Amino acid sequence: MTSVEASPALRGFVRVCSDGWSLGWHERNGGNLTYRMTASDVEDLRGAFSFDRPWVPMGVRDGSLAGEHFIVTGSGKYMRNAADDPAGNLGVLEIGPEGDRYRIVWGLENGARPTSEFDSHYLCHAVRAAATGGKTRVMYHAHPANIVALTFVLPLTAAAFSRALWQSETECPMVFPNGVGVVEWMVPGGPEIAEATRQAMAQYDAVVWAHHGLFTSGPDFDSAFGLMHTIEKAAQIRVLALSAGQGQLRQVIPDDGLRRVAEAYGHQLNESLLRE
Ligand code: 13P
Ligand code: ZN
Repeated sequence: MTSVEASPALRGFVRVCSDGWSLGWHERNGGNLTYRMTASDVEDLRGAFSFDRPWVPMGVRDGSLAGEHFIVTGSGKYMRNAADDPAGNLGVLEIGPEGDRYRIVWGLENGARPTSEFDSHYLCHAVRAAATGGKTRVMYHAHPANIVALTFVLPLTAAAFSRALWQSETECPMVFPNGVGVVEWMVPGGPEIAEATRQAMAQYDAVVWAHHGLFTSGPDFDSAFGLMHTIEKAAQIRVLALSAGQGQLRQVIPDDGLRRVAEAYGHQLNESLLRE
């Protein structure tokens, strides 16, 4: 039997926690990560699970992910500690048959709870799994400083953020040709911000939370982490350019250039975001 700690899924998960910490995206307990396990991940690890902990109601319900298993970070836990003590900081949840409750089947020892943003992660997993034919498995929330800084100076719209980020680094139209969504400032944790994020994630695989952070998703850890990294790098370049130019940009990549980059890599840029 594979131990949970030694499994490829948990090792990939912990690597994101450690790398995000190294890049400064996870002050204190900031940020959270969830991974929807494959049937074979679950099969390999089922012997290490225990089923004696109670079912806990979630604030949201979505039957499409009933019976699924998620690796999750714990609420109040620090990303920097995940590698040293996976069972104390991370856990595996089984979702109940109605898609409205979970039970902890591994980890989250000593009374720890799943991330307070699990409602958001869960609804976003549901909507991205539906949008991608089940491919999306990773949902990642972090607090990178530059994308948050831009939420103080750009209009809080998908068009404003997508265009500003695409213009800031030539690879962006290829990495996220569909753009990024934006959710206005809300109190974090719970069903209200979860529903707003779900609506944005129906269209975008990355969503900015104003004055708070960023959510990214993907089929694997590299994609979700790489999307976070690319968006934050573009935001950093934008912030540097705006600062150096005292708010003025002398030139940017033209809209037609953005289209052509996307097309060069076989993607179609989300034209509706260029029309606004
Ligand atoms: P948790 O510690 O509950 O995951 O919360 C951190 C966070 O970033 C809230 O948005
Ligand atoms: Zn947060």
